[in-house]
Amino acid sequence: MSSTTPDLPGGTWTLGDTTVSRFGYGGMQLAGPWVVGPPKDHDAALAVLRHAVESGITHIDTAETYGPRVVNDLIREALHPYAKDLFIATKAGGRRDAQGGWPSARKPDELRAQIDDNLETLGVDVLDLVHLRLGDANGPVPEQISEAFETLVDLQQQGIIRHLGVSNATAEQVQQTQSIAPIVSVQNMYNLANRWDDALIDRLASEGIAYIPFFPLGGFTPLQSDALSAVATRLRVAPMSVALAWLLHRSPNILLIPGTSSAAHLRENIIGAALTLSDADLQELDQITV
Ligand SMILES: NC(=O)c1ccc[n+]([C@@H]2O[C@H](COP(=O)([O-])OP(=O)(O)OC[C@H]3O[C@@H](n4cnc5c(N)ncnc54)[C@H](OP(=O)(O)O)[C@@H]3O)[C@@H](O)[C@H]2O)c1
Repeated sequence: MSSTTPDLPGGTWTLGDTTVSRFGYGGMQLAGPWVVGPPKDHDAALAVLRHAVESGITHIDTAETYGPRVVNDLIREALHPYAKDLFIATKAGGRRDAQGGWPSARKPDELRAQIDDNLETLGVDVLDLVHLRLGDANGPVPEQISEAFETLVDLQQQGIIRHLGVSNATAEQVQQTQSIAPIVSVQNMYNLANRWDDALIDRLASEGIAYIPFFPLGGFTPLQSDALSAVATRLRVAPMSVALAWLLHRSPNILLIPGTSSAAHLRENIIGAALTLSDADLQELDQITV
C-alpha cells in the first residue's frame, strides 16, 4: 500500500534515520475490550489503519501484547506490503496473562521470543523501533534494567532492530539506557493533566530524542478538567482537539500517537490538532493538575 503525504499538524520529526509525521497513530484501541481479543468490527479496524496512512500518517505505534497479536495482525492485513515511508514502532518487555493482565517479561529469552513474535506478526525482517517496556500498569518502577536493555542492543547489533527506545521509564532509567546505547525515543504517559515528565521532555528535546506520550487523551479515562472545558468552549472545539494541539505546542520533540477505533475520530483529531492556541489559552491550560 502506498501513502500520500499531505501536511499534517505539527510537521515532521526525524526518528533515527527516518522522517515521520509528528501526528502518528496508536493502534492499541483496535483490539477488543481491555485490549483483549479481536475488534468488534474487523473491517472497520482495517479501515482506520488505511485511513491513517492515506491521511499522511507515517508513524504507527503497536505492541505484540495488544490482543495479544491482534493489532499487529490487523496492521499487516491492512497495510502490508508497507509503504517505504511507513515507520512502525513496537514494544517488548511484557506479556498478557489469562486475566488480561500485563505482567513484565524481560528475561533475555522472553525478550528474544517477543521480538520474533513481532517480526512474524508484522511480517517484516527488521523492526523499525522497539521500545523496552518497563515498570508496571501503575507506572515506572525504579528497577534494574541493564540486562533487558543489553539484550535488545544485542538484537539490534544482529540487524533485526533498527532503533531502540524505552517506555514507562523513570528519568534515571532513561539515562541508564543512554549510557548503554543510543535511543531515539521515550514513550511515557503524559498529557495536559499529567505532566511529571516536563523536565525529561526538555532534556530529550535538547538531545534530539523524541518523547512520545501515551494516553495523550487520557487513555481509558478521558481527560476532564474545568480549565480544559473552558478553553475548548471558548474556541468552539472539542476538548480532545485542545489536548492534542497543546501537546504539539509543548515541545517540538513530542510525537502524537492518539488511539482510536474510529475513522471519524481520527479525522476529528487530525483537524483538531491543527488548532492554534494563544498565550492566554496556554496560561489557562497550564493551571491544570491532577
Ligand atoms: N508504552 C505503553 O506502555 C503504552 C500504554 C498505553 C498506550 N500506549 C500507546 O499509546 C497509544 C495512545 O494511547 P490510548 O489509545 O490508550 O489512549 P488515548 O489516545 O489517550 O485515548 C484513546 C481513547 O480516546 C478515545 N478517542 C479518541 N479520539 C476521540 C475523539 N475524537 N472523540 C471521542 N473520543 C476519542 C478513543 O475512543 P474511540 O476508539 O471510540 O475513538 C479511546 O477510548 C495507544 O494506542 C498505544 O499505541 C502505550
